Amino acid sequence: MKHLLDLQNLAPDEINTILDNAVPMKQILNREIKKVPTLRGKTVVTLFYEPSTRTKTSFELAAKYLSADTVSISAPSSSVVKGESLIDTAHTIKAAGADVVVLRHPAAGAPYLISRRVDASVINAGDGMHEHPSQALLDIFTIKEIKGSIAGLKVVIVGDILHSRVARSNVWGLSKLGAEVHLVGPATLLPPGIENLGVQVSSDLDAVLPGADVIYVLRLQLERQNQGLLPSLQEYASLYGINSRRVELAQDDVLIMHPGPLNRGVEISNEVAEHPNAVINQQVTNGVAVRMALLYLLSVGDVSNETAN
Ligand code: NCD
Repeated sequence: MKHLLDLQNLAPDEINTILDNAVPMKQILNREIKKVPTLRGKTVVTLFYEPSTRTKTSFELAAKYLSADTVSISAPSSSVVKGESLIDTAHTIKAAGADVVVLRHPAAGAPYLISRRVDASVINAGDGMHEHPSQALLDIFTIKEIKGSIAGLKVVIVGDILHSRVARSNVWGLSKLGAEVHLVGPATLLPPGIENLGVQVSSDLDAVLPGADVIYVLRLQLERQNQGLLPSLQEYASLYGINSRRVELAQDDVLIMHPGPLNRGVEISNEVAEHPNAVINQQVTNGVAVRMALLYLLSVGDVSNETAN
């Protein structure tokens, strides 16, 4: 595997290889000294054209824990960067001697373009509304860590499906591993034709929650809402917000997940964010382990049968 651009084109075996490799990486995170020499001499460049806290930090920490050198390039989030300027950027990265480029960009497809222009591995850290494969991998790793396996689980992804690259990557990944995926949101935030991906689609949250093993709450992408798709935040919160009453409708051991950042009081109540079944912080920790596995696999190879150091 040279790049990680999406989950749509990954085989179940490839997904499982990444998940398996994240297990020894997580053990490294639990050590007192979280550092191994595995990627010494390698350079990881993070190139972010959109704001990020968790994704950028966790890729940088993952690279540092594996002893890679890191360079971080942040473009102003207001600049509309397409075509020529992306290619210019590719030349900059080449000059920086990158082995792995982690790219977040507002334009869907940007990581594919870069992957054709630079002689480095490219990881898509979110391209517009298209995909965010490493996020879905860390989510799937977290579910598997707690539930043991993915096949047969009822996963309800709720909220702003239309604007969510996280939802799209999770739909691909979870379906490939055999989960029963339900997408729930107001009709205006459900992309037409999404049911063709082999998922169940509904706007009636309370009808879908019974039997749910996982409630995956999406952030309402307020920055991408400029077309009046929502009557009001209060109405959204009352129809689609995850509160304690709704958690009660699901399985007793339901996992409550959220990719962050949270709009508390909109898509998730304060109480649910602090619920004992909420694994939002565990997702962040697992994000570092999964990204260590990705950096390792893309620059070195498969370690699932060896120790990580
Ligand atoms: C997601 C993103 O940026 O797509 N966040 C993340 O990576 N942790 C989801 C979001 O912003 O809602």
